[in-house]
Amino acid sequence: MGNIASNTLFYSYMAAKNIFLEGRFRMTLNKKLQDWVKEMSYMCQPDQIYWCDGSQEENDKLLKLMVDSGMATPLNPEKRPGCYLFRSHPSDVARVEDRTFIASKRKEDAGPTNNWVDPDELKTTMRALYKGCMKGRIMYVIPFSMGPIGSPISKIGVELTDSPYVVVNMRIMTRIGKEVLDALGDGEFVPCLHSVGAPLEKGQKDSSWPCAPIEQKYISHFPEERMIWSYGSGYGGNALLGKKCFALRIASVQARDEGWMAEHMLILKLTDPKGNKKYICGAFPSACGKTNLAMLVPTIPGWKVETIGDDIAWMKFGKDGRLYAINPEAGFFGVAPGTSMDSNPNAMLSAAKNTIFTNTALTDDGDIWWEGIGIDAPNHLIDWKGNDWAPGSKDPAAHPNARFTAPANQCPAIAPEWEDPAGVPISAILIGGRRPSTIPLVHESFDWNHGVFMGSIMGSEITAASISANIGQVRRDPFAMLPFIGYHVCDYLQHWLDISTNTTADKLPKIFYVNWFRKDEKGKWLWPGFGENSRVLKWIVERVSGAGKAVRTPIGYLPAADAIDREGLKVSDAEMEELLKVRKDEWLKEVASIKEHYAKYGATLPKEMTAQLAALEKRLQE
Ligand code: GTP
Ligand code: SPV
Ligand code: MN
Repeated sequence: MGNIASNTLFYSYMAAKNIFLEGRFRMTLNKKLQDWVKEMSYMCQPDQIYWCDGSQEENDKLLKLMVDSGMATPLNPEKRPGCYLFRSHPSDVARVEDRTFIASKRKEDAGPTNNWVDPDELKTTMRALYKGCMKGRIMYVIPFSMGPIGSPISKIGVELTDSPYVVVNMRIMTRIGKEVLDALGDGEFVPCLHSVGAPLEKGQKDSSWPCAPIEQKYISHFPEERMIWSYGSGYGGNALLGKKCFALRIASVQARDEGWMAEHMLILKLTDPKGNKKYICGAFPSACGKTNLAMLVPTIPGWKVETIGDDIAWMKFGKDGRLYAINPEAGFFGVAPGTSMDSNPNAMLSAAKNTIFTNTALTDDGDIWWEGIGIDAPNHLIDWKGNDWAPGSKDPAAHPNARFTAPANQCPAIAPEWEDPAGVPISAILIGGRRPSTIPLVHESFDWNHGVFMGSIMGSEITAASISANIGQVRRDPFAMLPFIGYHVCDYLQHWLDISTNTTADKLPKIFYVNWFRKDEKGKWLWPGFGENSRVLKWIVERVSGAGKAVRTPIGYLPAADAIDREGLKVSDAEMEELLKVRKDEWLKEVASIKEHYAKYGATLPKEMTAQLAALEKRLQE
């Protein structure tokens, strides 16, 4: 038996100043896992190795450790029981797309939308950084399952990290600990190495958010090896490696090879007043409304929305020829600003307890606050940088990408079947983004291939969810996957086309393009959004069941006049007309811009996409 304790170095790590209870050192018989942990620990040289069991007791200890070191602030238990606030380093506040790499063996396999580096070269660079990077720190071993533990569609990863913040977040966002190791047995796992990149000299005081400077940050993916190496950042998708790195970038490659789909999508269940249920997915770019739609409270009487997932969907065809989706995650890493009891009560209630807040403001009575929380700012706050803040300040009190990490099972709207390993059958796929003009409130594709075309041309304003100089500028973001496709974008679009041949057209989900973000000439939202989006969902399920009224336009099917239920809604006829307007001049400009965008994708763009574009142009000119 490959007993870890028989290894002398491991034994000395175990014996070293172990702050945790004895017996926690988790044994595994998985040789690959043992060898990998050993090899990584030789490279990173942590003071200790600690195997996480995922227990409440362990979680409490880690949080106490972080409170004692000044990294975490416990919130007022009468207001936010079990909740903690963290403030990141001001440079480490979001995903870093410029420092994210797809290191496939061949450059062509990463494609024009990814940063590519030769895998051997990248490993050499990163090994130099990793060497001794965990000195003065503990290496935590986090076995985690994406999807319910033991389910045939779930996949297991193991993250090694020197950040206890990552451990407590991974415990909410994924299923971690002993049960995962038991389910893993001798099987395959995705190795995920993470370091904040800030070794400590003997006696050196730790900073409250250790991380490395931007040019030393690397969020690296080795798709052929199904391996992730992340260095230098402690924030969100850069550090919680089960999320974007595994469940999208690596999983998208697995999905292509195995004939399924890994998508940046929410999953919701919609029940009409007669009790008919439909499941809907939605691909919107980061900070464009997935969490809000997944937890929506309909404003139309008798309708109900329940949540299956708010960020990632893994989809496979069932024996009945329908597409089934599971949520591989177990928690929400949601955008805080703009979230209120008014806009998203289910998110607010999910984050009422046992929640980690990052980069929100702190009130004098030990609660959190952010812009758009629905309560006026008190006269004094501590802002996300830890400074005094008062209303009228030119800077926001919470960072625009401040987030809450909350367990999904705390969501009052969570659907009872959210953990069903069989997944839920999808009737409609929504795509969308932030487009102030051109794109109407909703339109439906003519068929699957036209829907794939619509997904390929999706554009959206860049948001604070990634660090960028271009916030607010529209960029093309196919299926909201631009930063998350682990391979060539053209092969990804081809995969979307190919996947439809697994079934018949009548069983495929219908594809709808929505835009909650159209503005008038004064820059005001034309559509009230949030709960009112239920009116659009209603038309969508009416279309799915064949009842909804539509008109054919050059860009797709649009709701017929009055097909969108406006009972009790203060949107005038003129505003509705504007929301659903298809202007040929704007769309011809769009076509020209799509041509430029497609040119960047190169010669392997599926012919079907250029044919769809030509057909759109022709319809617009008729
Ligand atoms: P990620 O977690 O980054 O993937 O974001 P997300 O797609 O889940 O976006 P989320 O639902 O968190 O919304 C992001 C921001 O958009 C929040 O500030 C919301 O208040 C705002 N938002 C969401 N839905 C709507 C809407 O229908 N209309 C308007 N105007 N704003 C919305
Ligand atoms: C996103 O940016 O799409 C997120 C947040 O969901 S992060 O986990 O940081 O990627
Ligand atoms: Mn997201």
